[in-house]
Amino acid sequence: MPLRETLPISSFSWEERIIVALDVASRTEALRLITLLPQAKFFKVGLRLFVAEGPEFVEEIIKRGKEVFLDLKLHDIPNTVGQTVEEIVNLGVRMMTLHVAGGRMMMKRAVEAVQNLNASKKKYPPLLLGVTVLTSLTPPDLQEIGVALELSQQVVRLARLAEECGLDGLICSPQEVGEVRRIVNPEMILITPGIRPSWSTKNDQRRVTTPREAFQKGADFIVVGRPIIASSRPHEAFSRIVEEIKDLT
Ligand code: C5P
Repeated sequence: MPLRETLPISSFSWEERIIVALDVASRTEALRLITLLPQAKFFKVGLRLFVAEGPEFVEEIIKRGKEVFLDLKLHDIPNTVGQTVEEIVNLGVRMMTLHVAGGRMMMKRAVEAVQNLNASKKKYPPLLLGVTVLTSLTPPDLQEIGVALELSQQVVRLARLAEECGLDGLICSPQEVGEVRRIVNPEMILITPGIRPSWSTKNDQRRVTTPREAFQKGADFIVVGRPIIASSRPHEAFSRIVEEIKDLT
């Protein structure tokens, strides 16, 4: 069964396509946000919160009826990644990330781990999402680590490799989502961070896009952190974003 069948994008409401980044340091702060955002379905747990509060907290979020996007960006030898993915599958998260730069064997082992454990245990196995080139890396950074291709070419190369290895989707910056959408299979799920509604501040994000533009360029989901979680009224900020996109088809 193709993994995509487990997550029918067309049946998702706009509220469900906004993933709220729980970029906070503690369970208390995270739960406060989850409570303040009853209309949100997906929450992203990154390394910081995961290290601070552990897998039990991920399970707690799921028990509260929410979906978790576990953003740990795995990158290790195939065996270690495969075994770690098995553990993540048991947690019941709906999406997780790994670095495409970990290579073909690593990605294949991750895909196998999901497929093997998919059978009876969990209703929905996690979608495996590839990270291509971190947006914090500049062209000189890439050269320094021995990547000769231009940044955008490297993104395209890794996106194709991820698709070939059977990943379900990719994390794409606003700059690359349009191009990636053109070159990969329409079934690949694209998730875009770096989102700033016109009414919010940019913070440290330099190249940003509005929620509307991101979906128009081909994103399936957007990840939004500070415009929602740092707002004095998170619920209102979330609703405002939904208002801006809900007439898109
Ligand atoms: O607060 P903000 O909306 O900028 O948060 C965006 C989230 O997406 C953060 O969790 C950040 O780590 C993540 N992210 C990003 N840019 C990338 C990849 C991930 O902002 N290129």
